[in-house]
Amino acid sequence: MDGHAKQSGSSGGNGRRRALKQRLESLAASGVSSLPKRRAVKKPASDGGGGRSSVVVPPALDVGARSRALDVLRQEVAACRLCEPLAKARTNTVFGTGSTTARLCFLGEAPGADEDASGEPFVGRAGQLLTKIIEACTLSREDVYILNVLKCRPPENRRPLPDETACCRGYFEKQLAIIAPEYICCLGTTAAQALLQTDETIGALRKRWFSFGTAQVICTYHPSYLLRNPPAKREVWDDMKLLMTKMGVQL
Ligand code: URA
Repeated sequence: MDGHAKQSGSSGGNGRRRALKQRLESLAASGVSSLPKRRAVKKPASDGGGGRSSVVVPPALDVGARSRALDVLRQEVAACRLCEPLAKARTNTVFGTGSTTARLCFLGEAPGADEDASGEPFVGRAGQLLTKIIEACTLSREDVYILNVLKCRPPENRRPLPDETACCRGYFEKQLAIIAPEYICCLGTTAAQALLQTDETIGALRKRWFSFGTAQVICTYHPSYLLRNPPAKREVWDDMKLLMTKMGVQL
């Protein structure tokens, strides 16, 4: 598994096998029924945010350490020029927002025009819909953490290219490792495929539990899709009910 697991120490082959067995048993016990098929991952053209970062993330950081680690990472992102065309065109990088101790993170695709202008994720029309979804779950944006796969706006809001996702992977994986949420909700195909490193469709990924490090992952449609297809709101609400039940949040 990626993320946290990648960063935990190793205690030799037997230890690793034991830890993996234990992890799989505990995932099964908590209802994770399947793991995504891993795509043969192309080595990133450059080492992305991962290799260059000076942020070292020990497990279970306290609140102050989380804020400091996120601030350092935010500055790295602000200075990043790994995707030069995106860096050249951007007004702001869009790092992430919300509680550094959030139990739940929402992972989106990439900033749009409003987010590029403000430096905040999900503040445009899709963002307003995401806020309504969060509030319908009896939570607020301040209770959760919201981030995107890409930190720079792609031109004309096109989908992120594989190389761009590879360059930003180190950043979103580190954000998630620092926050260490219990749950991650992937919004749309790009987020789900990037996090889970799969090419399965969002339709196939919905209503299943995955794991990423210590977090349990659920996938749902992107709010932008809901703006184009309002009837799909019902399915997103079904996904949110599944998530809230698992989190023990009463609706
Ligand atoms: N869509 C996204 O995926 N992220 C944003 O921040 C805004 C729109």
